[in-house]
Amino acid sequence: MRRALIVANWKMYGRREFVADYVRDLSGGLSGSIPADLVICPPAVYLGDLTRHLPAAIEAGAQDCSPDRDDGAYTGEISASMFADMGCRWVIVGHSERRHRLHEDNSLVAAKFAAVLAAGVRPILCLGETAEERASGHAESVVLNQLESVLDTIEIGGLARAVIAYEPVWAIGSGTSATPADAQAMHELLRHAVERRSPRMAKEVRIIYGGSVKPQNAVGFFRLSDVDGALVGGASLNAGMFLEIVYAVGTSRV
Ligand code: 13P
Repeated sequence: MRRALIVANWKMYGRREFVADYVRDLSGGLSGSIPADLVICPPAVYLGDLTRHLPAAIEAGAQDCSPDRDDGAYTGEISASMFADMGCRWVIVGHSERRHRLHEDNSLVAAKFAAVLAAGVRPILCLGETAEERASGHAESVVLNQLESVLDTIEIGGLARAVIAYEPVWAIGSGTSATPADAQAMHELLRHAVERRSPRMAKEVRIIYGGSVKPQNAVGFFRLSDVDGALVGGASLNAGMFLEIVYAVGTSRV
């Protein structure tokens, strides 16, 4: 069985004091064996504070990076190799808040994905359809297109270091998650798309779900055969709730 992965995406929340309190609460709440790999993605400016105190069992990630691999005159940008230098092991790319608010398209997301791999860091590729795309019957084609545009630009072996996150846009921050059946169907579709290129990679790649994951609904997702964890926004801002989601893995994937 693929080991579960639970990722906290803090988005643009937190202050230095919050980081210190959070890490203390998280460390204090960990007990026994941890049933999943854990990643915390704070706002970039707080990565130093986070990594200084983070227990060894938990890794740090960034929420985005530049598509440019080499240093250059790119004001405001941070490269994947700079994140690596800060102790980051992961970078989220293609989050829907960037695709939609900042108009990041599939080719930019693919360039970021490749830049993350080139820096020796691990990309978390977010995919997901809007409510309109789902209502008009295009959810599958939109999400497959988002995946294929990345797979077309990398060696398929690169996927061994990546994670795919299915996050339906309408489920993010809305309190309404996808149903477990809809999530399973989409994850299965994505895995089949990978299988067409590499049966081995399809077995190995972790596909995690995001969109209003809470302690109350986490078990329903973790029981699904093609859901390998969660990308958590709002509920990850509370260390206690995040830990409840983490330990839900232990009761559902047996
Ligand atoms: P919520 O868990 O707040 O719905 O956010 C999900 C998300 O966008 C994580 O990247």
